[in-house]
Amino acid sequence: MTAEKLLGDIIVFRDAVLEEIRNAESLGALEELRASAIGRARGRLNDFKKHLPGLPAADKPPFGQRFNAVKVELESAIDARHAELSASAPAPAALDLSMPARRQWRGAKHPVTIVMEEIEVIFRDLGFTIATGPEAEHEWYNFGALNFPPDHPAMDMHDTLYLERGGLLRTHTSPVQIRTLQSYPPPIRIIAPGNVFRRDFFDASHAPMFAQIEGMAVDEGISFVDLKATLANFANRFFGETKTRFRPSFFPFTEPSAEMDVSCRICNGAGCATCKQTGWVEILGCGMMHPSVLEAAGLNAQRYSGWAFGMGPGRMALQRFGIPDIRIEYDSDISFLEQFAQ
Ligand code: DAH
Repeated sequence: MTAEKLLGDIIVFRDAVLEEIRNAESLGALEELRASAIGRARGRLNDFKKHLPGLPAADKPPFGQRFNAVKVELESAIDARHAELSASAPAPAALDLSMPARRQWRGAKHPVTIVMEEIEVIFRDLGFTIATGPEAEHEWYNFGALNFPPDHPAMDMHDTLYLERGGLLRTHTSPVQIRTLQSYPPPIRIIAPGNVFRRDFFDASHAPMFAQIEGMAVDEGISFVDLKATLANFANRFFGETKTRFRPSFFPFTEPSAEMDVSCRICNGAGCATCKQTGWVEILGCGMMHPSVLEAAGLNAQRYSGWAFGMGPGRMALQRFGIPDIRIEYDSDISFLEQFAQ
């Protein structure tokens, strides 16, 4: 076949396909045409290429140029017809535009998380940094360094989950005090939020795993005045204007030790079921750090002093949101949790 004839045949082919494109009445038909005319696998245009090797060298470039030009022209004609057909295509029958949209589902923070974040913000404003520690702990960090004498009855306060290969699940966040003091020199002001574990049964006010927030301030010249002022300031911000009182208590790692109460918000201190008719609700344990604790962490207890506290945001969430049973906090019940969506 001569080059001249080939160039002419391509034009004839092109005009025929342009006609077919104009006549295509559906997107399906058009796509079928695309495949059969210029498709890589079975496009008729490719048949022209078979003649290429037999052409004289001088005729090859003009043939190649025409071949490519036709291919581009057909492609854009098909695309243009595609756009035309899609614009006029009626919406599929199954699309019912009057159907109400699905309700958007908004996640919510867990009430205990809300309380913890509020506490963190207040202490951050007071110059405290957040510190963390491991949940699987050495006995020494959990008890020994915190001045629990071996086999002392004080340890009965903490029913402990021991690990098979040694160590335990921390029963409180107080080990973070030691870890922090070992890592940074005073002045130190930290709070340590985290989960703790005890061999307790689930009941209305106990759970085998719960959150705590530990706090600690260590420097030269820190006194009980700092403790009272900081914690009273915290209570006023967290609960709104409230009275606080400190009752003597005992913890091995503090001396003196105290329990801080706030006046009951439900009855304004008059006495009700929530506060067991006392007018007060206990919210945390605290005290001046025992010198043995500072020394266990490698500090000179003659030079430094400190105070510390520990509180349970799970119990505070009960108060704050009027939740009657702590087990609800663990249920992952969507209708309960949804109420906290902001
Ligand atoms: N670790 C105590 C507990 O879990 C709470 C606590 C009390 C922490 C007094 C303290 C503190 O730092 O000073 O029961």
